[in-house]
Amino acid sequence: MKNKINNLLKEVEAFSAENPEQLEAFRIKFLSKKGLVPALFVDFKTVAPEDRREMGQLINTLKQAVQNKIVNLKDKLDEQPVSQSSGFDLSLPASSPLGTRHPLAIVRNEIIDIFSRIGFTVSEGPEIEDDFHNFTALNFPKEHPARDMQDTFFIEKDPDLALRTHTSSVQVRVMEKTQPPIRTISPGRVFRNEAISARAHCIFHQVEGLYVDEEVSFTDLKQTLFYFARELFGEHTKIRFRPSYFPFTEPSAEMDVSCNICGGKGCNICKYTGWVEILGCGMVDPNVLEACHIDNKKYTGFAFGMGIERITMLKYQVNDLRLFFENDLRFLKQFESAR
Ligand code: DAH
Repeated sequence: MKNKINNLLKEVEAFSAENPEQLEAFRIKFLSKKGLVPALFVDFKTVAPEDRREMGQLINTLKQAVQNKIVNLKDKLDEQPVSQSSGFDLSLPASSPLGTRHPLAIVRNEIIDIFSRIGFTVSEGPEIEDDFHNFTALNFPKEHPARDMQDTFFIEKDPDLALRTHTSSVQVRVMEKTQPPIRTISPGRVFRNEAISARAHCIFHQVEGLYVDEEVSFTDLKQTLFYFARELFGEHTKIRFRPSYFPFTEPSAEMDVSCNICGGKGCNICKYTGWVEILGCGMVDPNVLEACHIDNKKYTGFAFGMGIERITMLKYQVNDLRLFFENDLRFLKQFESAR
């Protein structure tokens, strides 16, 4: 009997369960009414009186070992995640919805697409820019009042550096490195020291365009932008130009498109004029070409610049620019089906 109990003790010690069913079978085998432990207590009655003390202790040790084992294994099984047999495959990815593109990214990509179709490449430049690329080369002389058109974030440690106020700085970088023909657009983030409101933000996005070659004329500018407006807002879109001023273009203009909401009839988006302004443009000033070492006797060019937020607001009828920066999922999810 002693041997039998010692063997059972070893068996209990070695036992482990992978699931609750195995653990329950173990419990039944040892502790149920017809189990091994009660059977030992029955046998115990036949033990010689001088051995009873030792046998009794041994049987109790076994019973205790079985009970401890059950408690320990139960704790372990509870800690484990729901097992495979429960029907859950825990290695599968969570069923959360897929992310969506940000509306500004959707519109930026669409603008890039439209210009790539007519041979424009995409160029990028740094967001921290020096005075030469952001201002001087673009024909903003030092101390010229035109510099106040854009409220600038300067970098305190180095007065020559600032956060770029427009992506026109990228046209300078492209022209420094490349001789015409040049046809490129530069999408990017820009910074202005402005109070944040529904119509303005200190961070926003622009797309700059540049075309330099022999005999580029205002007609080319007009047709290119006409094509662009129709591709973006629909084939019935009309455009018009108003004279304007930018230091880096001469002549300069601002372009309006017929209101895509009311089709030009007048509504609160276009303030009942039928037109909305979407970009600035003009013929590249010869001084700019010269600053970038491009022969301004041989080459002419046009440039344009637009704000992505403004165009996105028009296209999707968003009335508060701050929504683009808050990342509220209820707002972003509305663009799920857009490209
Ligand atoms: N850089 C101008 C701005 O941020 C936009 C602009 C206007 C760019 C006319 C141009 C242009 O290239 O020709 O307000």
